[in-house]
Amino acid sequence: MTIKIYFDIILTLLKRIFQAAIAQSAERVLGKDEVTGSNPVSSFRCRFSYKFPPDHNPNPDSDPYPYHDSDPYHNSDSYHDPFCGLFLFLRIIMRLDKYVTYAGLTRSEAAAAIKAGRVTIDNIIVKNPAEKVTDESITIDGNLIDGSEYVYLLLNKPTGYVCEAGRGDSVFALVPEKYSRRKLSVCGRLDKDTEGFLLITDDGDFVHRIISPVKHLKKTYLVRSANPLSESDIKKLEDGIVIDGNEKCKPCECKRTYKANEYLLTITEGMYHQIKRMLIAVNNEVIYLKRIKTGGFPLPEGLKTGEILRLSDSDVLRIFAD
Ligand code: URA
Repeated sequence: MTIKIYFDIILTLLKRIFQAAIAQSAERVLGKDEVTGSNPVSSFRCRFSYKFPPDHNPNPDSDPYPYHDSDPYHNSDSYHDPFCGLFLFLRIIMRLDKYVTYAGLTRSEAAAAIKAGRVTIDNIIVKNPAEKVTDESITIDGNLIDGSEYVYLLLNKPTGYVCEAGRGDSVFALVPEKYSRRKLSVCGRLDKDTEGFLLITDDGDFVHRIISPVKHLKKTYLVRSANPLSESDIKKLEDGIVIDGNEKCKPCECKRTYKANEYLLTITEGMYHQIKRMLIAVNNEVIYLKRIKTGGFPLPEGLKTGEILRLSDSDVLRIFAD
């Protein structure tokens, strides 16, 4: 009995030391603000992967494809941190009931489902909600649970679809059924008649980082105009044009393509109908509009109109590496 008590004390002490080391390591890697809650491992599970400041890119202007060199994962302190590997390993350990919430259940519904024998780990029924799991195959009612905390989907939006939910012509109608329990929203709306790069996710922080004007994330559009833009029109647009008489756009980039009346416009904001109103301000009109890039991530050539690509963690990093 006494031995067991000593053993428990030593185990608890070791656990505390270990957790403190992980927390310190996490703070070094992510900054104090990101480390919240008593369990530093679960509190920033997944989120940490794109929270490294993209400004870590040592040479952002010189490299048009800065993905590899600027990968913050490799440039940050994390790479040299002895605890980081451990921390990466631990982030995938969590309680079973938490994991089951990814199937769209509340924590108490998940616990009830587990106790009712509806959940299996590697084909074995487990009835303990506190069971620790990593990346085993976990099912509820025979359906495999996708254990990712968040999903990041890239839709090559067709024309004729709106970004509002709950309509037959909504972009959400194009999202596969398996994501239907997630609280998805779009990151930066496109008009019904605009095509191209549309991010859809259930990660609210991510949406904020994409659409917030203070983040200056670049969005590039392929624009066809009714009439040619003169050099002075392009200069007006690039200097930051005033639209509708009172809203001043930030400076942008406008480049001609090899086709007549076709331009690549890169803006860092997302004002309502911004590109269309910018062209109206130079007495012109948009006749075709497609978003082709967000941050450092171009619309993949192989992604057909109407198709969805689920982005990996490194894809997400690449968006902010610009
Ligand atoms: N600017 C527009 O005018 N429409 C869009 O859909 C996107 C940017």
